[in-house]
Amino acid sequence: MPILVPPAEQYADSFLAAVREAQLTGSGLGDTLSADPAELERDFPAFLAHLRRFEPPAVPPVGFVNSEYLWLVDGETYLGRVSIRHTLNARLREFGGHIGYEIRPSMRRRGYATLALRLALERARALGLTRVLVTCDVDNVGSRRVIEVNGGELEGEFRVPNYEKEIRRYWITLA
Ligand SMILES: CC(C)(COP(=O)(O)OP(=O)(O)OC[C@H]1O[C@@H](n2cnc3c(N)ncnc32)[C@H](O)[C@@H]1OP(=O)(O)O)[C@@H](O)C(=O)NCCC(=O)NCCS
Repeated sequence: MPILVPPAEQYADSFLAAVREAQLTGSGLGDTLSADPAELERDFPAFLAHLRRFEPPAVPPVGFVNSEYLWLVDGETYLGRVSIRHTLNARLREFGGHIGYEIRPSMRRRGYATLALRLALERARALGLTRVLVTCDVDNVGSRRVIEVNGGELEGEFRVPNYEKEIRRYWITLA
C-alpha cells in the first residue's frame, strides 16, 4: 500500500525518472516541469533542503506560508507528491488552496491521486486544520473527480487575476 513520506534521498533515482517522464510528456505541475535533472543528480540533498524550506519553524518570506511536501511512494518507487499549505494567504484563498498534488505520468489512472489526497487530508487534520480548500482548473476532469470523491463541496467557478483558466474551488470539512 503506498504511503506519504517526507522527501528523502532513497527515492532519488525514482524521483529523477519521474521528473524526466513529466518533462518528456510536458505534463506535470510547474515545479516538476522546471526542475533541472542534471542539477538534481549533482546535488540531491540541496534539492531536498529546497523542498523543505517552508516547513516550520522556518519563517517564510512575505507572500509565502508554512508548507510541506510529502511524496507518495510504494517501496522505493516514487508515485507522486502532495504539497500542504498550513495556512492560507489572500492569493491561496483565491487560487491554490491548502493542498496540491500530482501523480507521475506513467502512474496515472490507478487511483493514486485519490489516495494521495485522502492521506494528505489525514495529515491536514493532524496539523489542526478543520476545513481545507482545494482548487483545480474547470477542465481538469481527473482532479475534479479526485476532490469530489474525497468529499469536496463546490464553492463555485471563478476567474482569478494572472491565470488564463477558469477554476473551481472546493471545501472539504475534516471530521
Ligand atoms: C489530475 C491527476 C492528479 C489525476 O491523477 P490520477 O492518479 O490519474 O487520478 P486517479 O487515478 O485517482 O483518478 C481519479 C478519478 O479521475 C478519473 N480521471 C483521472 N484522470 C482523468 C482524465 N485525464 N480524464 C478523465 N478522468 C480522469 C479517474 O478515472 C478516476 O475516476 P473514478 O473515481 O470514477 O474511477 C493527474 O492527472 C496529474 O498529476 N495531472 C497533472 C497535475 C495536476 O493536474 N494536478 C492537480 C492540480 S489541481
